[in-house]
Amino acid sequence: MAARAPLHLLPLRCSATKEDQSEYTDKSRNVRVLVLGGTGRVGGSTAIALSKLRPDLHIIIAGRNREKGASMVATLGGNSDFAEVNIDNVKSLEAALEDVDLVVHTAGPFQQAEKCSVLEAAIHTKTAYVDVCDDTTYAWRAKSFKTRAVAANVPAIITGGISPGVSNVIAAELVRASKNEGKAEPERLRFHYYTEGSGGAGPTMLAASFLLLGEEVVAYSKGEVIKLKPYSGMLNIDFGKGIGKKDVYLLNLPEVTSAHEVLGVPTVSARFGTAPFFWNWGMEAMTTHLPAEFLRDRSKVQVLVQLLDPLVRSVDRIAGERLSMRIDLECSDGHSVVGIFSHRSLSVSVGTATAAFALAILEGSTQPGVWFPEEPEGIAIEAREVLLKRVAQGAINFVMNKPPWMVETDPRV
Ligand SMILES: NC(=O)c1ccc[n+]([C@@H]2O[C@H](COP(=O)([O-])OP(=O)(O)OC[C@H]3O[C@@H](n4cnc5c(N)ncnc54)[C@H](OP(=O)(O)O)[C@@H]3O)[C@@H](O)[C@H]2O)c1
Repeated sequence: MAARAPLHLLPLRCSATKEDQSEYTDKSRNVRVLVLGGTGRVGGSTAIALSKLRPDLHIIIAGRNREKGASMVATLGGNSDFAEVNIDNVKSLEAALEDVDLVVHTAGPFQQAEKCSVLEAAIHTKTAYVDVCDDTTYAWRAKSFKTRAVAANVPAIITGGISPGVSNVIAAELVRASKNEGKAEPERLRFHYYTEGSGGAGPTMLAASFLLLGEEVVAYSKGEVIKLKPYSGMLNIDFGKGIGKKDVYLLNLPEVTSAHEVLGVPTVSARFGTAPFFWNWGMEAMTTHLPAEFLRDRSKVQVLVQLLDPLVRSVDRIAGERLSMRIDLECSDGHSVVGIFSHRSLSVSVGTATAAFALAILEGSTQPGVWFPEEPEGIAIEAREVLLKRVAQGAINFVMNKPPWMVETDPRV
C-alpha cells in the first residue's frame, strides 16, 4: 500500500483554493502530480525521479499515446496511471488538471509556440506548475502571467530543468556568494553547456535545438542588449574532470535574459556545444545555409527531425549521452569563480532536476506567482541547498564557487 503523504505536503497553498475542498482536506489522499509529456524522454525521466524521491506521490503520466502511457505506468508501478491529454485541447487539459496538485510540463517544443496553454490551464484550475521551457520568448510570455498566478494563489516555476533550471540556481549562488564575501560587483556571467549527441533526449529536444538555430542570439554587454548570429563565437572551454575541453557556440537561451534581469549582471551570454565534432559543423552549416524562416517553422523542422532522428540515434550509440555545464562569474576587481555540473546522461539529469523543482514547490518553497529559478520567490534561498543536493546525486562532477584554476582538467599545483 502507498505511504501517506506527510502533512507538510498537504494541502498545497493553491490546492486549498480548489473548488472541491473536501478532497484537499482528506489528509490520507496522496499528492497527485501530472507529468505532461511523461511518455517522452524528459517527462519519463522526471516521473521516474519523482517516484524514487517520493514514493508516496501519485503520478499521472499524460500524453496523446495510450500505448506509450501504459508502458511508462508499468515502469512506475502501482502508484501511477495514465491520462490522455492533448495540450492543444484546452478542455481535455483543464479536465486533467482539475484533480491534481501539481503539473509538470515537459511536452515541448516551447520554441515558436503561440500560447502558454498549460500555464493558463494551471492558473484556471488553481494547480501548481513547473515547466522545462528552454525558449526565451515562451519564458517571458509565461512570466507575464505572474499577476494572474498571484491572484489565483498558484506557485509556478518556469525554465525549471537542468539547463536552463539548475544552471540558473548555480549562477544565483555564485552571485550571492560573491556579494556576501564583499567582493567587487559581479560583472560578467557566462553559461557554457556541452551534450554528447542528443544526450539521451527525444525527438522534441532535437526539434528544439533546430528551432533555436533560427533565433537571433540575445546577449548582454555592459548592460546593453546585443544580437548575434546563432552558432557563432566559438570558445574552447574546459569542463573539468571527466569531460575535458570542448568547443561551444552562441545560442539564444532564456537564462541569459533572466540572469541579466534578476541577478543584475551587466554582461551575460550562453554557449552550447555537442559531440561528435561533426554535429557542431552541421549546426553551423544549418544556420549559414538554411533561411531563418525555415528554421523557425515548427512543421518544417518536424520533417527535418523525422529525417535526421534515425541518424542521430545511431551516432548516439557511439557518442554517449553525457551533459556538462560550466558557469563562470567575473567580478569588477578581476576575481573569478566557477560552478561545474557533469552527469552521465542529459535526460536523466533533466529528470532529476525537474523532479527537484517539483518537490521544492510541493514543500512550500515557492511563492504564488510565476518565477524563474534564480528568483528567491521561485526557490527560496534556504531551499537551494536541498535542491542542489538532490540534483548532485549521481553527478560525475559537481563543484561550486571555485577559482577557475582549481576546476581545470589538469589542475596546476
Ligand atoms: N530545461 C532543460 O533542462 C531541458 C533539457 C532538455 C530538454 N528540454 C526540453 O524538454 C522537452 C521534451 O524533450 P524530450 O526529449 O522529452 O522529447 P520527447 O521524448 O520527444 O517527448 C515529448 C513528449 O511530449 C508529448 N507531447 C508532444 N506534443 C504533445 C501534445 N500536443 N499534447 C500532449 N503531449 C504532447 C509527447 O507525447 P505523445 O507524443 O505520446 O503525445 C512526448 O511524451 C523539449 O521541449 C526540450 O527542449 C529541456
